[in-house]
Amino acid sequence: MDGNGRWAVKRGLPRLMGHKRGANRVKDIVKASTELGVDTLTLYAFSTENWKRAAHEVEGLMKLFRGYLQNNFIELNAKNIRVKFLGDPTPLAADLREQMEKLEDLTKDNTLITLNIAINYGGRDDLVRATRKVAAKVQDGSLAVEDITEQMISDHLDTAFQADPDLIIRTAGELRMSNFMTWQSAYSELAFVEKSWPEFTPEVYAEVIADYRARTRQFGAIIPKGVTGAE
Ligand code: FPP
Repeated sequence: MDGNGRWAVKRGLPRLMGHKRGANRVKDIVKASTELGVDTLTLYAFSTENWKRAAHEVEGLMKLFRGYLQNNFIELNAKNIRVKFLGDPTPLAADLREQMEKLEDLTKDNTLITLNIAINYGGRDDLVRATRKVAAKVQDGSLAVEDITEQMISDHLDTAFQADPDLIIRTAGELRMSNFMTWQSAYSELAFVEKSWPEFTPEVYAEVIADYRARTRQFGAIIPKGVTGAE
């Protein structure tokens, strides 16, 4: 969800106003996802590197997450949305962690869409934590080293038992992955859009999805021209 800061600075506003705008954008994009037939939407809200930002910006972002959870707690469940948090919650404030756990638990059987919210998430950190879980099983004798498979690693990541992302969209013209789903993105399609996150309307989103749907995905195979169902 890039470009909140620039969106604000361009308008002579404090960066946090951009994040606030960005947070307001979340609702329509979740709704649009359900209309566009997206079954899982992940929002990269705060990376393991974002702690390096100025303390007041970090505090402001945490306040926004807290506000989002408080204001949307009931509605997310009422709308049949399953919420899952990705990332290591350990450094987050206790009340925030408690709200996150409660919301995950409340919505765990919902089926309309899965909304992953990545907070204190890093693709490398995800892999380190998964490796530790797998290594602990080897250490206690419940897993043999030869039995470690790609699927097993996937199933120990924060996205355990979810499909890998089909499409990763980055806003505000940035052309990097910035530590997002390092393992899971092996075959993801990428879309880079110039619009900042506050300007990422459902219409822009629909265009990006239409562009994605027109692509042929081969996953490393070679599919003869004219053959459909490459996926
Ligand atoms: C990146 O833009 C954005 C962030 C680090 C924060 C994103 C968080 C929100 C939109 C808050 C609400 C989220 C939820 C899930 C309720 P940037 O600050 O790097 O922008 P810049 O590149 O223009 O400086």
